Amino acid sequence: MNRRELFKGASALGLAASAPGFVARAVAATTSPAVAAPVASPRQVRLLNKGWRFFAGDIPFPPIIGHDATYDAAKAGAARGAASPKFDDSAWQPVTLPHDFVSFQPIEESGNVDQGYRRRGVAWYRNVLRFEPQDDGKHIELQLDGVATFATVWFNGTLVNRNWSGYNSIYIDLTPYATYGDQLNSLVVRVDADAMEGWWYEGGGLYRDAWIVKRNPVHIKTDGVFAHPVKDEQGWHVPVEVTIYNSGDKTETVRVHTDIGDERSPADGRPGVTKQVSVAPLSSAVVNYDLPFANPQLWTVETPHLYQVKTSLTSMTDAVLDQVTTHAGFRTQHFDAQKGFFLNDQPVKLKGVCLHQDHAGVGTAVPDGVNDFRLRRLKSLGCNAIRFSHNAQSKELMEACDRYGFLVMAENRNFNASPDYMAQLEWQVRRDRNHPSVFLWSVFNEEPMQGTPAGYQMVRRMSSVVKSLDTTRPVTAAMSGGLFTPLNVSHAVDVVGINYQQGQYDPFHAAHPDKPMFSSEDSSALMTRGAFVTDKKTQVLASYDDEAAGWGETHREAWKQIDTRDFVAGTFVWTGFDYHGEPKPFNWPSNSSYFGIMDLCGFDKTAVHIHRAQWIEDKPVVGLVPHWNWAGSEGKPIMVMACTNAEEVELFVNGKSAGRQKTDKYDMNRWTVPYAAGRIEARAYNGAKVVSTVINETTGEAVALRLTQDRPALIADGRDAQPIMVEAVDIKGRTVPLADHMITYEIAGGVIIGLGNGDPISLEPEKGNRRSLFNGLGQVIVQSIEAQTGTLKLRATAPGLKPAALSMPVKPGPIPQSQPTRA
Ligand code: GAL
Repeated sequence: MNRRELFKGASALGLAASAPGFVARAVAATTSPAVAAPVASPRQVRLLNKGWRFFAGDIPFPPIIGHDATYDAAKAGAARGAASPKFDDSAWQPVTLPHDFVSFQPIEESGNVDQGYRRRGVAWYRNVLRFEPQDDGKHIELQLDGVATFATVWFNGTLVNRNWSGYNSIYIDLTPYATYGDQLNSLVVRVDADAMEGWWYEGGGLYRDAWIVKRNPVHIKTDGVFAHPVKDEQGWHVPVEVTIYNSGDKTETVRVHTDIGDERSPADGRPGVTKQVSVAPLSSAVVNYDLPFANPQLWTVETPHLYQVKTSLTSMTDAVLDQVTTHAGFRTQHFDAQKGFFLNDQPVKLKGVCLHQDHAGVGTAVPDGVNDFRLRRLKSLGCNAIRFSHNAQSKELMEACDRYGFLVMAENRNFNASPDYMAQLEWQVRRDRNHPSVFLWSVFNEEPMQGTPAGYQMVRRMSSVVKSLDTTRPVTAAMSGGLFTPLNVSHAVDVVGINYQQGQYDPFHAAHPDKPMFSSEDSSALMTRGAFVTDKKTQVLASYDDEAAGWGETHREAWKQIDTRDFVAGTFVWTGFDYHGEPKPFNWPSNSSYFGIMDLCGFDKTAVHIHRAQWIEDKPVVGLVPHWNWAGSEGKPIMVMACTNAEEVELFVNGKSAGRQKTDKYDMNRWTVPYAAGRIEARAYNGAKVVSTVINETTGEAVALRLTQDRPALIADGRDAQPIMVEAVDIKGRTVPLADHMITYEIAGGVIIGLGNGDPISLEPEKGNRRSLFNGLGQVIVQSIEAQTGTLKLRATAPGLKPAALSMPVKPGPIPQSQPTRA
């Protein structure tokens, strides 16, 4: 660091000390000579996923009869029935979180189509926690990362929280009611999943992690560090805001210190900043300072470089009281109304997908390992952006987006400017504003009030809540209409998101040439993976990209409208993956969607080939459909489609050219050829050179099964999980495209947590150890067992086929510490 930078840092600090919200008595900050040596944080973060008992159904509260009973029932600590600490739950089912109880429920025609026909309902969870005598005096917080849908929480018989969204975390201060040593603590959660917030599968129950966080009474509040780098005329710097809370009973003076290190070499010697502050009992203090930072490595979608921001609190006697590490990425962003989106001053066309949060087999309780698989699948398309429609995600998934280099449009669930809902929005921005991946805050999706003054007023208020917490990203809303009314939501947002309505791009841009815009949602094209003949009676839609919802467009058409207009900053295709529920255009028995570029398991539909050809620019690619198993159709015409980003493409049928075509980069290339068993081959050319080829061959009968793992190993932490692909293969090891065998699985050294096959009509359970293949493929999700290292062995059998077996090392690795419970 040179003198100029030091000086700049000091002056910025002077300014920050008088920033609004700054609590009096902070004294001047100092730059420390070097990064402080890492110190163990006294903060204890304990996973609370074990020890739960579960009951599916409601348990009515016993009636209150008589003077004394009525009086007593009205008091703190007097919860009754299943909420009472004394309730006997020994007959309830032991479960481990994350637990989407709805994913275990049957698929029933009487259910709600958009929720995937799963039975929902009310359910109860109970746990018993032990805090040690030495925990007495600490600040103890319960964190429930996601509870669907309406939740009521009791702790030691006192109602401590009601939460009305299945998508936000719940933070509860347990300190006032906690007991220690042999006096155990009762924690009870009632969930009402009959309540719905969406029109897609939402799962139910404690479907994300639960945590107990024990801290010094003077501590950094949850989500209490905001450190997002910015660049201005002076260069890069990191404004830091730290919120400190004191739950003790006297005023405490502490030092707050932040330093920033490179993820790969944390102690790279850059100085940090320290400031002193006094915090009154049961009060917060907000401390601001600014760290200059020269020559950072930038965060880009190709090289998402991350830094560690370490913030600590120390007492005046140098005891470390608390420490928090957040991550930061150095990148700039701006939207240009004529030219689209710029990251680090480079134009980046948004090649994005909308996602819901569930996956085959596991519903909404998606392990990090499966989310990791999903993100890698999206990267393989050339996708660079994700719209998390229409709600907040788990913090682990947001962190994974930082690591993989996705631009994230973060969206809140509820369009409502009243206090409960504003608190949800505020929670989301506070939690997610450090992520370099987040580049847009979206306050709604397709709201009927979007074209009205009421909608405008609501968005103004919601936007101002966002901006009170983060001014570095624009606010948007996904509009499905109302764009041209005299007063509408587009007047209240920074960037306009247009859902579908591609015919409005030009008129809207002409009317508002200074307003940046993008396609917040488009396509809603429909495909069944691996099917090439539409049969609406059996609810099968061919994968040629000829079908789309009435309000949507095919993948090819949607991208053409966007790619040919610089002022449309990019796309968010509805959707990256199929999801449970919303099986439009069908009803029963279809129970998962047809919109995905990939199916519910993440297997390729034809849309994968289309988007690779459209989005990948740095290497030649070519994809080819359909499969070439059409026994019985000899001589009949079959449509063949090749998708490439090369200049020309030629189709060969059994070695004979069926014609070389100039690539149509939007419509792709098609031929109709008579079927003859053998092979089709597409050769992609740049000039005279063949740059990529693909072959689809007629296979023989299925003779064996094959299992393919996603990653080489699992960690023995009881959380790590990965999908295994299952195929039926012929004698030459080729995937048999229409195989639909029923497969039975046996596992040792791990557990099966879900099964899938991508068939939107399947009524087979996604739990257990049996499921059929669909169009040649199936998926098993396997998970490690805590502290059980060694080998996971999976065996797949099907009548008439040679079984397949897979062995995978399960390695020692860090096991997150668990909060002691009765289990
Ligand atoms: C959109 C909506 C999405 C989904 C989609 C299906 O209008 O925003 O949530 O329902 O339609 O095509």
